[in-house]
Amino acid sequence: MEFSLKTSMPEASRSACQIITVSQPRKLGKSGQRVDKASRGYLSSVMKRGDMDGKLGQTLLLPAVPGLNSKRVLLVGCGKDSEMNERGFTKVLGAAMSALQSSGARDAEIYPADITFKGRDLGWKVRQAVMLAGNSDYRFDACKSGKREKPTGIRRLAIVVDRTGANAARKAMAEGHAISDGMSLTRDLGNLPANVCTPTYLAREARALARGNKRLTVKVLDEADMKKLKMGSLLSVGAGSRQPSKLIIFEYRGTAARERPIALVGKGVTFDTGGISLKPGQAMDEMKFDMCGAASVFGTIKAIARLELPINVVGAVPAVENMPDGIATKPGDIVTSMSGQTIEILNTDAEGRLILCDALTYVGRYKPRFVVDIATLTGAVIVALGKVPSGIMGNNRSLIDQLIKCGQQIDDKIWELPLWDEYQEQLKSNFADMANIGGRDAGTITAACFLSRFTKDYKWAHLDIAGTAWYGGDAKGATGRPVPLLTQFILNQVKA
Ligand code: BES
Ligand code: MN
Ligand code: ZN
Repeated sequence: MEFSLKTSMPEASRSACQIITVSQPRKLGKSGQRVDKASRGYLSSVMKRGDMDGKLGQTLLLPAVPGLNSKRVLLVGCGKDSEMNERGFTKVLGAAMSALQSSGARDAEIYPADITFKGRDLGWKVRQAVMLAGNSDYRFDACKSGKREKPTGIRRLAIVVDRTGANAARKAMAEGHAISDGMSLTRDLGNLPANVCTPTYLAREARALARGNKRLTVKVLDEADMKKLKMGSLLSVGAGSRQPSKLIIFEYRGTAARERPIALVGKGVTFDTGGISLKPGQAMDEMKFDMCGAASVFGTIKAIARLELPINVVGAVPAVENMPDGIATKPGDIVTSMSGQTIEILNTDAEGRLILCDALTYVGRYKPRFVVDIATLTGAVIVALGKVPSGIMGNNRSLIDQLIKCGQQIDDKIWELPLWDEYQEQLKSNFADMANIGGRDAGTITAACFLSRFTKDYKWAHLDIAGTAWYGGDAKGATGRPVPLLTQFILNQVKA
């Protein structure tokens, strides 16, 4: 979708559709009132007749409104002003976009300042609107044969603000657009089937992302490189696969080299069969999404590179396929990680932590300011938190608090689980420094406990996105989360 910023008068609009918000009971916002006046009270009369009450999410498309030069007006309900909030805003945008899907309009104008509620400024509304609209027309049909369905809905959205807000709005629009494009990349990579999206494919995509961008470089370590670095844990996961494992490193340099970078580390299991500890067949296809952490690193790097942010960021993506085989890793096998710590692999399906630990050790060489890892790590996080927030744990109070705040700021929620020392006991092994599983209880926390043993040298947080990275069922597909959260975090670091 294309976006533009306008400071024109709403009553002068010549667009295919003006999106006008109505709050309960039958109240127009500032732009809406001007448009109503220009139409000699047409909008008011429609509301008076009872066709639009202003209920949250209600829509009514009015073609050829008398007195206006625009071709349509779409009325969208916002509910009661006193009840409007971030979620309401999201619903209003969603309702407008889906109503436009079935109209003939190819472009539209929206007036974000008309939706008023406490605590969020115009910049927030513009950015959120652009992000939501940019995501609303996402389709994944790369693997469908035959004629592509013609895209419906709008192709251009104009954000209309008054002159005083124009600068803030322009910046917000760029941010929202970059985040939405980053999310699309994340969703594409997630949705691709595992026979296409292999570790080698991801490495190629990483190089493609860096092409033509002077600030972004990519290094790919192959299995021989990783052997030299003694990444025995990472390498053990791909042992049963015909697909060679890779460690993909993005280096985004937006400021002086001496500025310590932020490191993002994303789990890139391009398919997780469980290995010898084979998963049951039910919904196993969804384990193609087990590289969504990696994909969120790609998407975030894309967004910050697009915005040319003055900050240094390292992205590390361990990419492997977890398969059973004659030479696959077996339960009971013991491996030595790059850190020197030994691991007894009691369950080959707890593979995410095995690749992350070596990648986490590796990024230590950058002396990072903060490290955030992102992983579809445990089914247990869905039991604990459902599919609303991602789980967060870490070793630094302030970093965790900052991330939680970012999540609220951009409506990409996360919730903390306690990473208390008591849980560490569950990782005891009779034969090695630690086991890779901690039993049935608190599976999300013991997974983070495992990672915490490799992140002692820096400030670290871990996001478990197993519940938020993709939808199952009829709407099966990658969500693009937590690209908004991660990009917001980096934006805030630039400002700090
Ligand atoms: N990729 C899975 C986690 C997962 C499972 C995400 C289902 C989303 C839906 C991970 O590699 C895994 O298999 N974890 C195991 C850990 C267990 C063996 C300790 C799990 O959650 O069952
Ligand atoms: Mn697994
Ligand atoms: Zn996995």
